[in-house]
Amino acid sequence: MSKHIEIKKITVNSIRKMKSAGERISCLTAYDFTSASILDKAGIDMILVGDSLGMVVNGYENTLPVTLDEIIYHCRSVKRGAQNAFLIADMPFGTYHVSDEQAVENCIKVIKETGFDAVKLEGGAERAALVKKLTACGINVMGHIGLMPQMVSTMGGYRIQGREGHEKLLADAKALEEAGAFSIVLEGTVTSVAKTITENLKIPTIGIGAGVHCDGQVLVFHDVFGIFDGFTPKFVKQYANVSKIISKAAKSYIKEVKTAQFPEDKHSF
Ligand code: KIV
Repeated sequence: MSKHIEIKKITVNSIRKMKSAGERISCLTAYDFTSASILDKAGIDMILVGDSLGMVVNGYENTLPVTLDEIIYHCRSVKRGAQNAFLIADMPFGTYHVSDEQAVENCIKVIKETGFDAVKLEGGAERAALVKKLTACGINVMGHIGLMPQMVSTMGGYRIQGREGHEKLLADAKALEEAGAFSIVLEGTVTSVAKTITENLKIPTIGIGAGVHCDGQVLVFHDVFGIFDGFTPKFVKQYANVSKIISKAAKSYIKEVKTAQFPEDKHSF
C-alpha cells in the first residue's frame, strides 16, 4: 500500500486570503532538500531561498557575492523537498540592477529552472516599473524594503530604518503594491512604522526585525535553530541550539572512532 501524502499547496491566492482573514503568515529561509522537507512537513506557509545563504552557507561577509547560479542551485534542492509551501527565490545583487531587460531575463530563468512560485527583489519605488513588467510576464514578485542588505555599503552598515523619513517607506510600499507585488518584506524597521505600512496595504507585509504588527514573519533558518555561530541580531528568537547538539555528538563520534568503540558489530557486515 502506498503511503498517502496530503498535498495542500499554498498559492498566491492563499497568501492573499490569509491577509484578508487576518491569519498570520509563517516564513523561514531554507537552502537545501532536507531542511526544506522538515519545514514543509512542519507546515510552514512560505520558504525563502534567501541570499543570506552567502553568509550562513558560503561563509561570505555579506550577501553581495552570491550569484544567480548559486541561488538556482539551492532553489532546485529546496523544490525537491517542499510540496506545500509557497516558494520564493531571492534575486542576488547585480542580477536585476543593470536594466529591466536583464532583470526580466534573469527572473524568467530562475522561475523556469527552479519551478519556484515567486522572486524577491530589494528596493522600493525605484523597482515599481520592473515589478509591473515582471507581474505582466506572470511572475509573482515579493518586494523588500527597510533595511536592505544588498545596499549595505551605501546604507553605511546594517541600520534600523524608519526612525526618520518613514513617509518614504510608506510611499515605497504603496508603489510596490500598485505595481503588482503580492507581498513585501519589511526588514529592520521601527515597529510603529511597520504597523502603519501594514495597515495601509492590501497585500501582506512579512517582517524581520519589524515588530509584531506585520502580517507575517520571516527569519533565517540558521538563526532560528542555532546553527550559525556568528552574530545573532536582537530580532532573532532562537528556538533550538542545534550547533551545541551537533558539537556534542561530533565529540562523541571522534572519541569513539579514536578508541575503536565505533563501529560495533551491529554496524558491521
Ligand atoms: O536573504 C534573506 O534571507 C532575506 C530575508 C531574511 C528576508 O532576504
